[in-house]
Amino acid sequence: MNSIFRLEACSVSPMNTPKKFNQNAKNAWYPAARAYRFDGPKLAVDCGFLGDLSPRGLQLTVLQLKYLVSQNRDFRSPWPMHFVNFDQNNQSLLAAEDKHLGILHSKNSIGAVVSSSSLAENFDRNRVVYLSPDADEELESVEDGHVYVLGGIVDRVVERKIPRKASFEAASSAGVRSARLPIDKFIEFKSGSKFLTLTAVHAILHHVHLTGNWEEAFEKYIPIRNKKESAEKNQHARSKHIMIREFNHRVQQIVAEKLGEEPK
Ligand SMILES: C[S@@+](CC[C@H](N)C(=O)[O-])C[C@H]1O[C@@H](n2cnc3c(N)ncnc32)[C@H](O)[C@@H]1O
Repeated sequence: MNSIFRLEACSVSPMNTPKKFNQNAKNAWYPAARAYRFDGPKLAVDCGFLGDLSPRGLQLTVLQLKYLVSQNRDFRSPWPMHFVNFDQNNQSLLAAEDKHLGILHSKNSIGAVVSSSSLAENFDRNRVVYLSPDADEELESVEDGHVYVLGGIVDRVVERKIPRKASFEAASSAGVRSARLPIDKFIEFKSGSKFLTLTAVHAILHHVHLTGNWEEAFEKYIPIRNKKESAEKNQHARSKHIMIREFNHRVQQIVAEKLGEEPK
């Protein structure tokens, strides 16, 4: 199998540090050990798109991966994390990894298993759910023993080589189930894109796994700007401007009165 595994999460082993047991390493190791021991949910990021991104898109996406790893590390119950389809021969990708993903090599925290092999080579297909905003199916729950896959894409710049429905197409060609978040069922999404960031999607899945509460997860992790209508937002900006104008006018009047001038 053409794959390179780096089981960073397990690199902190009490066996390696028998004498001076480092308390930080111990604190970091327990949640990681818990995560791998119980058959909870796993998170996989499909890194197969990274090689087709523009230089700017690649930097932004790899930065998001860094935030994703660090968000997972900070959860009390982190999920085992896997980067699949990670092309170990792509020099730009390796350079971006060197620059932004030092966190993967930290001895004191849970990282990610990085592999150049595919989803099907890493996991049982029947347990895989590929998250895609374009999927027909709506996700109902977040289950133990399942692998939730995110497309390693950040839609901040226009990418010529990435199709609009990239994650949906990737799920179909990998022969795995795809599902979208049930946003419309639980909140009034008023403006902006329903393509959420990798960190937001993982935080939502993590919250729903712990609480079963989609509404609370969306309230917590979908930015407020998406929950207000543009008109509402403009109205808000307009009333702020009116208040500022009135305030300025009032200050001018007071200054004029003090100077004994005619108020304008
Ligand atoms: C910024 S989005 C990229 C959207 C992209 N055009 C695509 O093809 O998926 C990054 C990833 O987060 C996940 N994602 C974002 N919003 C989602 C939603 N509303 N439902 C399901 N998954 C979502 C998907 O895995 C997606 O690939």
